[in-house]
Amino acid sequence: MINKLKTSTAGASYKAANILNKGGIVAFPTETVYGLGADARNEEAVLKVFRVKKRPSFNPLIIHLADIELAKRQAEFNALAIYVAEVFWPGPLTLVLPRASDCNVSRIACAGLKTLALRVPENPAAQDLLTTFSGPIAAPSANISGSVSPTRADHISDSLLDKTDLILDGGPCKIGLESTVLDLTVDQPRILRHGAIPLESLIEKLGDIKEYNHSSNTEIKSPGLLRRHYATNQPLRLNAITAQPNEAYLAFGDCTSKNAAIVRNLSESGDLSEAANKLFLLLRELDMPKYESIAVAPIPNEGLGRAINDRLERAAVKS
Ligand code: TXA
Ligand code: MG
Repeated sequence: MINKLKTSTAGASYKAANILNKGGIVAFPTETVYGLGADARNEEAVLKVFRVKKRPSFNPLIIHLADIELAKRQAEFNALAIYVAEVFWPGPLTLVLPRASDCNVSRIACAGLKTLALRVPENPAAQDLLTTFSGPIAAPSANISGSVSPTRADHISDSLLDKTDLILDGGPCKIGLESTVLDLTVDQPRILRHGAIPLESLIEKLGDIKEYNHSSNTEIKSPGLLRRHYATNQPLRLNAITAQPNEAYLAFGDCTSKNAAIVRNLSESGDLSEAANKLFLLLRELDMPKYESIAVAPIPNEGLGRAINDRLERAAVKS
């Protein structure tokens, strides 16, 4: 039986926290995408998340907390980390920091690394759950490993639903694209994954930021950044100015196609926030066997466009 509760239902977060306390798994909304949460201190529960999601054990999970004070118990925050957290939390920024000596997060959740990826989400339902639970919640995006992240409760696939104890339905996610992952374990902050906080916003507050070059580096710094990820079933054709009659076309702004079998526009006004918000939704809608492939209009590589292009490029890698 599928156990779904609207986040507006009285006592929803208590019920969810109770399940987490007993080692269960709860899918919950954040402002970015839905997460599949477990008590990060409970090895069995964390293992269940890896198993249910078919996630490789070398790929660590993000640890969610209610506030910066709880986060400070788990990782070492230097002055820069405190500043970054105060500026961007609660919000869609994940910080990679050294693990604190008395950190009680399961080593399995962190794939054995000496670092921890921490995030304080601002979505009210996520905040409610985290405050009620008052411990660390390990939560990857609530999709089978390698496929498109869910931005609505009904995007969570049946194969996951069957193995989840409770789904908190908080409606569509406000941003719709995952958090930015920022590594603060090095002298100069570097982006490991582009996401909902654009590079420009980080530069504005922090000065120079490095972008980690995953393809030219042999060290696996963010093990989750596998080349093929966010994959659609049908092939993607990127930077397509026009489409073929047998193709679906994912348009952006004025760049649209009359020939395509179907056209959906990420944002008619060319707004990158709107495009980020619709990306996973429209990819799901166009990913049908009746279309030979999905042609995607060029997306400007600035602001949120960087994260959009990152997801599209990885989804386009052939398996
Ligand atoms: O918006 C989000 O970040 C969502 C919501 C649910 O919070 N979560 C999410 O989790 O996207 P996931 O598991 O799909 O992606 C987590 C990313 C992966 O690329 C993983 O490798 C990286 O964070 N990561 C986790 N711990 C890390 C660490 N210690 N060092 C470097 N990268 C880490
Ligand atoms: Mg994911």
